[in-house]
Amino acid sequence: MSVKLAIMTMKGGQAKTALAVNLADRISKAQRDVLLVDSDVQANVTTVFQRDHVCNLANVILGRVKEFEFIKINDHFSFLPSGGKDLVEASRYISNSRFRETILSNLLEPLENSFIIFDCAPSWNEINENILMYADYVIIPVVTDYLGFSGCDQAMSYIEELKEESRGRCNVEILGIAVTRFNNRTNISKTVVNGLKERWPDLMFQNVVDESVSIQEAPAYHKSIFDYKGGKTKGALMYDALCKEILMRVAEKRKET
Ligand SMILES: Nc1ncnc2c1ncn2[C@@H]1O[C@H](COP(=O)(O)OP(=O)(O)OP(=O)(O)O)[C@@H](O)[C@H]1O
Ligand SMILES: [Mg+2]
Repeated sequence: MSVKLAIMTMKGGQAKTALAVNLADRISKAQRDVLLVDSDVQANVTTVFQRDHVCNLANVILGRVKEFEFIKINDHFSFLPSGGKDLVEASRYISNSRFRETILSNLLEPLENSFIIFDCAPSWNEINENILMYADYVIIPVVTDYLGFSGCDQAMSYIEELKEESRGRCNVEILGIAVTRFNNRTNISKTVVNGLKERWPDLMFQNVVDESVSIQEAPAYHKSIFDYKGGKTKGALMYDALCKEILMRVAEKRKET
């Protein structure tokens, strides 16, 4: 059975795309099959990999593709682009459908990749709600600036509210909170991390990703952090540690169930 992971928060610029791309590539480098789904109208993963295809999420939802045909990033890493602004139409289609909660779950049911990762849009829309109905786990990324804490708090409440309203139909679990851009030089960064640890002690991932030039540069060279500069950057080391911790937590959860 696939492990379905949504990288989600409604706040923009929290390194959702950076985490989704690097986690997917890290999993592929461990020889596990991974599908990265871009579910954001901004189509930033398409920009990173410079690859697009008619088999994209929007066209899948709109019933315009009959068979999945994914872009291959490497032997173990497949990618489903978002379709860009067509996702707005797809979102409208979902909201008018009788099966609005389960469209995505039904469409993606045949997928057999070991991991399916969603790079979500920074908004609360039908597509994100559908992803939450389908996913097993959510990871909330946080940049430790002034508004980072409230962004995380908002995401938590939205997800909990959806679960409550769904009366058992949405079983997604928050896997954890990942600090994706920590600035050691600022007090606000330390204050935000302490606040997060105090509020959600069991959800915080211990491995923090610091602000780093390599993480900012890698997408401009159309590479994950593990391929950029041969993977020999501080950014690669930090992402490696975080990804390992995420995968360990997934393994623990799977053992529990
Ligand atoms: N640790 C880091 N150090 C330096 N720059 C980073 C780091 N993490 C992410 N960035 C940069 O921050 C910017 C925002 O990151 P990213 O696009 O991944 O965020 P996002 O949450 O996906 O944004 P959006 O909400 O627009 O989808 C990008 O320019 C990215 O390269
Ligand atoms: Mg993004």
